[in-house]
Amino acid sequence: MGITLEAFFEHTKNTDLEQFHPQLRQTLKLYYELKSHGRSGEWDAALESMPQLLDADYSFDEDSVCVLKPDNLELDYSVYTQQLKAFMPWRKGPWNLLGVEIETEWHSDWKWQRISPYISSLEGRQVLDIGTGNGYFLYRMLGAGARLALGIDPTRIFLYQFHAAQRLLPANGAHLLPLRSEHLPAFGCFDTVFCLGVLYHRRSPIDHIQELMSYLRPGGELVLETLVVPGDVDTILVPQERYAKMSNVWFLPSTKALENMLRKLGLQDVRTVDVTQTNTQEQRATDWMNFHSLADFLDPNDHNLSAEGHPAPLRATIVATKASC
Ligand SMILES: C[S@@+](CC[C@H](N)C(=O)[O-])C[C@H]1O[C@@H](n2cnc3c(N)ncnc32)[C@H](O)[C@@H]1O
Repeated sequence: MGITLEAFFEHTKNTDLEQFHPQLRQTLKLYYELKSHGRSGEWDAALESMPQLLDADYSFDEDSVCVLKPDNLELDYSVYTQQLKAFMPWRKGPWNLLGVEIETEWHSDWKWQRISPYISSLEGRQVLDIGTGNGYFLYRMLGAGARLALGIDPTRIFLYQFHAAQRLLPANGAHLLPLRSEHLPAFGCFDTVFCLGVLYHRRSPIDHIQELMSYLRPGGELVLETLVVPGDVDTILVPQERYAKMSNVWFLPSTKALENMLRKLGLQDVRTVDVTQTNTQEQRATDWMNFHSLADFLDPNDHNLSAEGHPAPLRATIVATKASC
């Protein structure tokens, strides 16, 4: 049967997103329904076997996205832990689902702490998160007051992780569509567009930034986080081969070069609000992500260099505004 995405269409009926329903349904048919994943059957069965509550208490404004276990729910923790582990690797979090703490590869809460002080209030806003992963940030956005948090991410396992949480919760404003950003219409109606950790995976960064701008309403805010390198306005690294062992890294500008691109595309009030070198406490292997992690991607003798000898992963967040008219 698979995961149904109807909740998104129900929630956005009679809103400015309704006009895009036919196009989104058609795109989802092509890239989701007709493009089944080899492990979908196994994951569907795992999801079906898990508790479904739909009315648990929760908190979205603390470091862990937390869904509380109701007192009257009998839960075998070792069984529930194994059910959640069916969706490994858990990369973004942390989560606490019914008392099971999921220690993810990333301390995504640290990223949120670095970014959230610098963005416009999300209170009542309609927000889009491109490359959302498993939706951890969608709940943090709801916790910060967003009325709708739509995440886009093509990686199928992350959709299952999102629904492992979503099936415990009352109807809410978080939705994840398993699409790529290049599949989306030019919505033109989101108050804030987040794009965290995606730009360096795109071959054509300027086109990608233009895509992001097309989702915003006039006067809306772009929050862009990506890998950067030290340097001046003319510095851009295009790794010849891998970067930190990743084969899909295309374009690492300096913050000055990135700011310049954003201004040249017409964005206003462009400012770098944070630059942080990722360390091995923020990104590490855990019981919930037992593949290689950052420590394996760096020069073992010098953690300021990637395994290939490039500057080690440094991430910048840039905030900018789309012109009002
Ligand atoms: C490095 S992760 C970042 C996840 C999260 N935003 C964060 O900052 O922790 C990149 C994510 O982007 C997704 N992604 C890659 N290409 C994409 C595209 N063209 N459109 C949307 N998402 C994409 C991947 O599936 C992955 O989940």
